[in-house]
Amino acid sequence: MTKPPLRLLHLTDTHLFEAAGARLRGVDTAGTLQRVLARVLDDERRPDAILVTGDISQDETAAAYDRFRQLIEATDLPVWCIAGNHDSPPAMAARLAGPPFRLGGTLVQGGWAVLLLDSHLPGEHGGRLTASTLAWLADALQEHRSRHVLLAVHHHVLPVGSRWLDELGLQDAANLLTLIDGAPQVRAVLSGHVHQASDQEHHGVRFLTTPSTCFQFLPHAEHFAVDTRPPGLRWLDLLPDGRILSEVTWVEPE
Ligand SMILES: [Fe+2]
Repeated sequence: MTKPPLRLLHLTDTHLFEAAGARLRGVDTAGTLQRVLARVLDDERRPDAILVTGDISQDETAAAYDRFRQLIEATDLPVWCIAGNHDSPPAMAARLAGPPFRLGGTLVQGGWAVLLLDSHLPGEHGGRLTASTLAWLADALQEHRSRHVLLAVHHHVLPVGSRWLDELGLQDAANLLTLIDGAPQVRAVLSGHVHQASDQEHHGVRFLTTPSTCFQFLPHAEHFAVDTRPPGLRWLDLLPDGRILSEVTWVEPE
């Protein structure tokens, strides 16, 4: 019998607020997350876990994380999270402590290890992996050398072709790329932050980004620009042989 894949649902950049009904660029971010989750619950596919790559809050309040908890608990799934530039790691740790939440760490299942990397850089929109995060990653890659590996990090690693956004990506991405080059078990790197779908290959590794659950940035724009595309999410099937089947779902307004 064929072994089942590790099926992940990738949600990112929910940008929730303390105030109910608060809007970001005209979008009720709690409302769009609710719509995205309703679509997920409607789908016949059932993920093994939800992976959330940061910017859970927009205003860094504890109440924004309470709202996230309240909305996402309806899925009854484990929720693996990392922080983005708009998050408050202390508030996240306080409000998303314990099951179903896991902050950072390693998800191991079905021949795969998913390693969550914290790129939050206090006071900055760009991100960075600290020396201790890079050391943790090097150890984890050694430990999981006989598994297939997916890395998840809020900030995008490869440029997506928008000058303003690429200036706010992962600083010192070369450090990460060097580690990846020395680790043939790394199959893909999954990011949020750019509020758009992208799928690139670099040295045989796939670099994926996923639309936000609220609003999108216009791809290939020199300067800041918002896209008209609706909220989105990404499905990933991590197959036992190391292949990844992935698709983005856009959630149009009703
Ligand atoms: Fe971000």
